[in-house]
Amino acid sequence: MFKALLLEQQEKIISATITDLDESRLPEGEVEIAVEYSSLNYKDGLVLNGLGGLVKNYPHVPGIDLAGTVTQSDHPNFQPGEQVLSTGWRVGEAQWGGYAQKARLQAAWLVKLPSGLSTRTAMGLGAAGLSAAIALEALEAHGLTPDMGEVLITGAAGGVGSFSVLLLAALGYTITASTGRPELEPYLKDLGAQNIIPRQELAEPSNKPLESARWAACIDSVGGTTLARVLSQMEYGTSVAAVGLAGGNKLDTTVIPFLLRGVNLLGIDSVFYPAERRAAAWTRLATELPLEKIDAICSEAGLQELPRLGKEILEGKVQGRVIINPNA
Ligand SMILES: NC(=O)c1ccc[n+]([C@@H]2O[C@H](COP(=O)([O-])OP(=O)(O)OC[C@H]3O[C@@H](n4cnc5c(N)ncnc54)[C@H](OP(=O)(O)O)[C@@H]3O)[C@@H](O)[C@H]2O)c1
Repeated sequence: MFKALLLEQQEKIISATITDLDESRLPEGEVEIAVEYSSLNYKDGLVLNGLGGLVKNYPHVPGIDLAGTVTQSDHPNFQPGEQVLSTGWRVGEAQWGGYAQKARLQAAWLVKLPSGLSTRTAMGLGAAGLSAAIALEALEAHGLTPDMGEVLITGAAGGVGSFSVLLLAALGYTITASTGRPELEPYLKDLGAQNIIPRQELAEPSNKPLESARWAACIDSVGGTTLARVLSQMEYGTSVAAVGLAGGNKLDTTVIPFLLRGVNLLGIDSVFYPAERRAAAWTRLATELPLEKIDAICSEAGLQELPRLGKEILEGKVQGRVIINPNA
């Protein structure tokens, strides 16, 4: 038997209960894992509240990230006792996920834990950390270097935002963090942001297709009007990595920043990011992030706190990252 946060649906109402399940209830898969940690993401908030049409089949175990130790394997790449992690591949949406003490997954969805990372720190990072690493990689592939000027990070106090600030600051970039929570300025400065601007400054639509060029790059978790505004403020030939939609999924812009300033809009997807490039991204996080600062970004919670946390993350009230301990 193992404990899991089980979501059930009755007449379109979703309820969450911590339930003891028999291992025979686990879905099919090649590798069985004793889950040590999971984490809380914006997408988990959607799943916990039955939003976004992400889960088609109930009962369901959410949790899009997980890390733990292999207990049984039918795949030659993984042996019992090895530590592994998983993010994306629609685990926690179309498949049962990490809000449980046990999981069974396909081997292709697993990454061996890179040396230097604990399962707890890996889940501190989770899909948010991986997305920050993929965004940076995309920006660098389009020519970004630390001497080019100010890099804007929007939704900076969230998970993707916090790791983007930490990672880029560690590599010598000059960071401007945009946040709707001015009280978190000391937190963002401690992560390495030099400048802070209020969320509102970017949230109002501009009536001009081009504004003064300000940014050498942007990692955007917000989307909507903010992304449109940012596009009009980019320096010539620079790129925006579009990661999230915390402020909306519409993009009302003109083609002028693309045509007159050669701006690139780079789509970032961590869910189906190719398996062969994931290990490298995780190794980069393990080696280039100041891991001792990750504790300042993370707090820890048990399964019983998830219904509350699932609401708070959708309201933009969660600071940094919440690690979920299913064994607490
Ligand atoms: N593309 C991918 O593969 C991928 C992977 C992971 C996440 N995501 C997406 O990236 C986004 C961020 O994820 P996350 O896990 O970092 O979530 P998160 O921790 O909730 O962070 C989102 C941040 O956005 C800001 N925000 C929230 N509501 C807003 C609003 N209405 N208008 C403007 N800003 C708002 C807040 O930052 P401040 O308080 O600092 O303003 C909040 O902390 C989400 O949309 C998520 O779905 C995408």
